[in-house]
Amino acid sequence: MNPVRVGLCGLGTVGGGTFNVLTRNADEIARRAGRPIVIEQVGARRDNPDCDTAGIKTTSDIFEVARNPNIDVLVELIGGYDVARELVMTAIENGKHVVTANKALIAVHGNEIFRAAHEKGVIVAFEAAVAGGIPVIKSLREGLAGNRIQWLAGIINGTGNYILTHMRDEGRAFDDVLAEAQALGYAEADPTFDVEGIDAAHKLTILASIAFGVPLQFDHAYTEGIARITFDDVEQADNLGYTIKHLGITRRSESGVELRVHPTLIPKERLLANVHGVKNAIAVMGDAVGPTLYYGAGAGAEPTASAVVADLLDVARNIATDHDYRVPYLAFSGIHDEANALPILPMEEIVTAYYLRLLAVDRPGVLARVATILSEQGISIEAIIQKEATEGELVPIILMTHRTREKHMNEAIRQLESLADVAGAVTRIRVESLDEQE
Ligand code: HSE
Repeated sequence: MNPVRVGLCGLGTVGGGTFNVLTRNADEIARRAGRPIVIEQVGARRDNPDCDTAGIKTTSDIFEVARNPNIDVLVELIGGYDVARELVMTAIENGKHVVTANKALIAVHGNEIFRAAHEKGVIVAFEAAVAGGIPVIKSLREGLAGNRIQWLAGIINGTGNYILTHMRDEGRAFDDVLAEAQALGYAEADPTFDVEGIDAAHKLTILASIAFGVPLQFDHAYTEGIARITFDDVEQADNLGYTIKHLGITRRSESGVELRVHPTLIPKERLLANVHGVKNAIAVMGDAVGPTLYYGAGAGAEPTASAVVADLLDVARNIATDHDYRVPYLAFSGIHDEANALPILPMEEIVTAYYLRLLAVDRPGVLARVATILSEQGISIEAIIQKEATEGELVPIILMTHRTREKHMNEAIRQLESLADVAGAVTRIRVESLDEQE
């Protein structure tokens, strides 16, 4: 059979990894695909010293690749929004299939890209966009297709998990561990995307669409980063039987879909609590299958290349299939219309439990005033710990609450912070049991 001819755009960390996996495993890949998959052209501004491109056409003009009539599938590994969008749209206009690892592109421009691709009858595959090498998109879209998905929760940013793990285990400073994650090629070009949860929100947006059949709605995702987590919180959580993880959570209810990324206390015995370093894991609850877990490397050159190459194999196998018989981009057939879809719930409507830490003056009646404010908001306290005074007369108070609606907690925190007895801001971290029965 004729080879599938690839135009590889971007030869950085993931591009270089893809080049090397495709060439190293070429024979085995050809046997799996039933035809060779060959790199016809590379479009990159710079060489990658780890890649031997001798004998392969290269250009610094990536749009030349998108228009090259000898290319069947364009692999977009340049990252970013605008140029990547134009590149992918140009490739689609020219009738090329597309494979991308670009979560920002899919989360923000995916609805438009899939519409254009559908009209042209071409495949757009994006397994590598979520959780690096873990085939979670294929699992959700195909392996779990018989289920009504109830919720999923995941550690979906390798850099953030790497930072939290090394801060906790080695007591190292945030910036020091971040620099290491950057050197290892895990972090985004702008690492605030990792630590502020934007990268995770991109991935969660994609997972939610595939799980629930709703349009991509990144602009409705709630995002909170890990930069304000202190070692003190990590220790307190540990004493209470919890681990702090930066989670993306999406859950379906009758009124809408939750879509939120934030630091979360989870019970230490959950498998997710034991996912360390750059590893990612996603727990998915389906009504038929029950709880499932997908685990592996969430970033890095060859783990991400593993997913890119798997997508290329899918393209090779489906290139001759009538477009109407291919697996839909976002798992559900038909147009994803925001007006008719379940809405994304505002954060104020989320119901969860909370960990609170506040500094209060050590005098009679303070705990009672704190408890009164919570009780007036209908918030029930599960545990309360008053520590020894560490800062003059101020004592840290740790509270664990039962589940309540976020808007009631917001009001309680506003009132707590206005108490003369309470110093500074109240730290609030959401708590999820991730109960397999929920
Ligand atoms: N910066 C991302 C991460 C890369 O750390 O998870 C993989 O998407």
